[in-house]
Amino acid sequence: MRPALVLLPGLLCDGALWAPQVAGLADACEPWVADLTRDDSMQAMAQRVLDEAPAGRFALAGLSMGGYVALEIMRQAPARVTRLALLDTRARPDSPDEIERRRTLMRIAEAARGFAPVNRRMLPLLVHISRQSDEQLVRTIQEMADRTGIPAYLRQQNAIMSRVDFRPVLRTIDCPVLLLCGRQDAITRVSLHEEMASAVPHARLEIIEDCGHLSTLERPAEVNAALRHWLEA
Ligand code: MLT
Repeated sequence: MRPALVLLPGLLCDGALWAPQVAGLADACEPWVADLTRDDSMQAMAQRVLDEAPAGRFALAGLSMGGYVALEIMRQAPARVTRLALLDTRARPDSPDEIERRRTLMRIAEAARGFAPVNRRMLPLLVHISRQSDEQLVRTIQEMADRTGIPAYLRQQNAIMSRVDFRPVLRTIDCPVLLLCGRQDAITRVSLHEEMASAVPHARLEIIEDCGHLSTLERPAEVNAALRHWLEA
């Protein structure tokens, strides 16, 4: 039987973030994408994933905010997780400046009643410079934001801002861990992944070249190869 693979999207993202992995890894696992739009704390998001995910144990992969939720799952129910992949994410909490930037983005989205101005500000941080005018990629990002909507965005940002410092969790993880990061990730930088790799007992760090924060969409072939190796190791 193929193992269950629980996939956790990032902020303002949904199943489209993981579509290349669902398509490319279906022979190696049973992928299941969580809905992280309904809660306003990491604890509640993690609890909902644990309640709604396929019964029993699963492999767990999260990108960015999905990585924060994955680390919260490692706090709440490590016995459910057979292996963990943390993509373009971090264990550290927000700095006061980051919280201020989030509050500004939340005000902008609420005032505009949409994501056009937020996406304009975020795109240079989200994807590699060579892909910032890739119409299909940009459209996918915009459509995920529109499907998520403002109320869910505000819930997600509140959950992100109030998350705990997950660094103490890293030392307790005893399953195989893949840490993966785009070389040019401008939101959760390579150095943050190196820091996590030095704290996790059984971690492998994979850097994807010419790639920003949304690695699953930007470099699906390379990301799928890394995930396949992690799933089959
Ligand atoms: C994400 O992609 O989930 C966000 O960049 C996470 C964050 O803003 O911390």
